[in-house]
This record gives sequence, C-alpha cells and structure tokens, in this order.
Amino acid sequence: MPNYNQRIIAPSVLASDWGNLAAEAQRAVEAGGDWLHLDVMDGHFVDNISFGPQFVAAVRSAVPEAILDVHLMIERPDHYLDRFVKVGSSNLTVHVEAQHDVAETLKRIREAGLGTGLALNPATPIEDVYPFLEFADNILVMTVVPGFGGQSFMEEETMPKIEAVAAEREKRGLDFHIQVDGGIYADTAAIAAKHGANNLVSGTGLFKAPDMKAAIEEFRTVG
Ligand code: DX5
Ligand code: ZN
Repeated sequence: MPNYNQRIIAPSVLASDWGNLAAEAQRAVEAGGDWLHLDVMDGHFVDNISFGPQFVAAVRSAVPEAILDVHLMIERPDHYLDRFVKVGSSNLTVHVEAQHDVAETLKRIREAGLGTGLALNPATPIEDVYPFLEFADNILVMTVVPGFGGQSFMEEETMPKIEAVAAEREKRGLDFHIQVDGGIYADTAAIAAKHGANNLVSGTGLFKAPDMKAAIEEFRTVG
C-alpha cells in the first residue's frame, strides 16, 4: 500500500547527461533519490519526442535495485504497456487525457504487479480523475504543461487541485501518493508540500544542482 505521509523524491532523468546515462542514474540513486522518474514522450500526446522502452531497459541495467517511475506521455499507453512492463518499470503512470480506457489500463498495470499512476495536465479539471482513484497508487498533478524540462511551476492553476484530491482521498478513505512534476526546486517543492503533495519529481532542480545529495536532503525537509 502506498504511504502518502512518506516524502518521496524522484529525480527526473530527462535532465541528466544521456551520454553518461548509467553513471547519471547511479549518481541519482547514490545521492538518495527514492524513485528515478523517466519521461516517455511520443511526439503526439506532447510536442516532443524523448525515449522508449529500450532506454528504460538501459537504466534498469545501470540501477538493478532502483524504483523506476515511468511517466508515459503517450497517446496510446494501452498499446505500449506490455513493452514497458517487460523492460523493468516499477511504476507506470498514464494520462487521463490520453486515448484509452483509463480504468482498464490501470487494472492491467496493477495485474502486472506494478505501481499505478494517473496523471493530469494543468488544464484538466481534477474531477476528471475522481472515477479512477481506487485504481491509482499515485496521482500525478502536472505543475507544467508536459513536454519539456526547465519550465516554470504553475502555482495558481495546480495547487487547488492538490488540495481537492487530498480532500477526496480523505473523504473516501483511499490511499495514494500525490505527485508533482514540473518546475520543482526547493521553493516550489515547499509550496507543493504545504498543499498536500508528498511525492516530488524534479529534473533540472536535482540533476543540475551543484550538489544533488544536498538538494535531495533539502527537498526532504521543506514545506
Ligand atoms: C515534463 C516532464 C518532467 C520533467 C520535469 O514534461 O514530465 O518530468 O522532467 O523537468 P523540470 O524539473 O526540469 O521542470
Ligand atoms: Zn514526468
């Protein structure tokens, strides 16, 4: 069962040096990252192309014990699901806006023994994920429009959604993480944590920090 009182710090590999992928993944784990976040983009669901299952496999070989948190920003997560299971993903997060039967996809991920995540974009109302909360171990409230690293945190649009979904979790006696992704640095991590997020994804804020270990420790205590 997910424990949403636990702070989870998830460095996003998108911002790492891909020329030294194995060393970068190991650096994030050694610095204390709890989950390694991997952003898969298909050029349709978002306006960018990143990497696919083979890249996830390479990270898996570099860090055999790590929790790989794979964020599928793709139009047809149902179609590609099995391939991401096969390469050693630990968690699979799919978008509520993508073209698939959301409940069915989440059930398939759970049946495969992986953690389930459901993401929503800044423009999507939080109520859109309410029918699926029972099937999710992690709700990812995107704090930027997905597609690129290094964008600014959208505080006004997204913080009320975190509060709303936390209240809904309480009301229904459910148990899932609330994750934020996009523009997370120590200051915005503190804001998100104050509103109820416990799971913090950060690319630029961690991989480009002068000292990743110190940055992760700071993320652990802010808010
Ligand atoms: C955005 C991705 C993020 C990205 C965050 O489309 O989903 O995971 O890596 O990057 P930063 O932390 O640099 O905003
Ligand atoms: Zn992401």
